[in-house]
This record gives sequence, structure tokens and C-alpha cells, in this order.
Amino acid sequence: MTSDTQDPASPIPPLAILPERLTLPPITTVKEVKSFNYYDHVTPELLSAATDFIATHTDAPGPETTRCIIHILNNTRLDCVGTESEKVACWLTIRLTNPTNYFQVPRWHQDGRMYHYDEGKEEVVRSKYATTLLGPPTLMLPAQQDVFQTTRSGKDKFHPKPADGKKFDKKQWQKQEESMRTWLAEEYEESKRLEFANGEVVRFSWGREDSPVHSEPDITSDRVFMTVLYGSKTEIKEMCKWRNEEYGKL
Ligand SMILES: [Fe+2]
Repeated sequence: MTSDTQDPASPIPPLAILPERLTLPPITTVKEVKSFNYYDHVTPELLSAATDFIATHTDAPGPETTRCIIHILNNTRLDCVGTESEKVACWLTIRLTNPTNYFQVPRWHQDGRMYHYDEGKEEVVRSKYATTLLGPPTLMLPAQQDVFQTTRSGKDKFHPKPADGKKFDKKQWQKQEESMRTWLAEEYEESKRLEFANGEVVRFSWGREDSPVHSEPDITSDRVFMTVLYGSKTEIKEMCKWRNEEYGKL
């Protein structure tokens, strides 16, 4: 699946489903709400830490989980644009959730820029890969101009440019964000959503005008969700700085 309205400046489509589907490990239960975050090279240690995390906090069996994560990492790294050194490092996250009503109202958004690009690499389309091992998949709208236009209108309406010299007010910003969330949920209520089958891995761009609009789903059952994105070592280190995270820590 690709978009027929991609930004002409984008050399690769903003949204795609990887051709190979995963064989998912048999998971039925999340025992604890928890997140795993890793910023470093793709290593065997990452594989065992990610497997341990899922096997400890869900009822997933280790060997099937390992096979599935290897599959995800191999396929996404192969798909990712760039030379070996341009995708040698990653940010991998796994989110385990129990049912919550927090996303009954979708949080439609485009992912912004995740890190400072290496010099000369500013035009490379950067993507994130996402897959759901258990529970409802991410909500995603088609990568179309009318969809982007609605998001732009929401930003203009609820986050107007502050007057010169006015300090950033975090509380005010959060209030605006909540109002925009409600407004976008109504605007997109009747919009066609993309559907993902079990075991599909979706690639979607970030930090661009035509980056896909998406949201967490209404989490009505236990969920195991995983994303990974790649960059050079300096880019992922930059990302850690922006997020106050530690590079190379398991
Ligand atoms: Fe997002």
C-alpha cells in the first residue's frame, strides 16, 4: 500500500506495509503496564533484553518471542533507507498496556522530528516501523492531502503563533492540545481508516509535511505494541539528548 498523494519531494512513500507478515508469539495477557526503551546499536544484547522484557511481563513464551523480534529487526533494517552506518543505531520501544479509557477519544497527530539529522542527510525520508503483537492496532488515516490539511487547520486554530516576546506557557499549551484533540476527533470521525492485519509491520514517515496522521487505538484489551526507528550513531545520540535519555543503556 502506498499513497497516491505523496509529497513530490518525498523519494519514498510516507506510508507502507512491509511485504512479509510476522508469525506472532502466542500472547494473551499483559501482567504489568510497562515500557521498554532502548537507544543504541542493534545488538544480540538488545534481542535478549527485549525478549526478557516481553516474556517477563506477559505470558509470551521466550523462543517464539525471540524469533518474532529477530524477524522485526531484520525486516525493518533491510527496508530502512541508507548505508549500514546510517542505520547502525536504533530507538526501540515496547509498550505493554492493560485496558484504559484514555484513548477513547483518539489522539490524532503526525510524528514530528525525532532527532537532528547528520549533515547532508536532511532530505532523507525518515520512518518509524510499528507493529502490534497483541491487542488493537494503531489507528492510521490515509496519507492524503485533505487529511493533512485538517491537521494543519487544527494546529492553526488551536496553536496560533505566540505574539513576539511571549513566553511559552506549558499549561496553556496542554489546554490547547486537549481542545485540538477533541476537535480533530470530531473532524476525522467519519474518515476512512486504514486497516492492518495481524502480524503486519507498518512503515510511516516522521518529521515531514506528508507524514501520516495516526493515533493510539481505543485500548479495550491488553496490548503489546512495538516500534523501531533507525539512524546513525550520532543521530540516535542526538535523540537521547533531546529526550534526556541515556544512549547505550539496557
Ligand atoms: Fe505517534
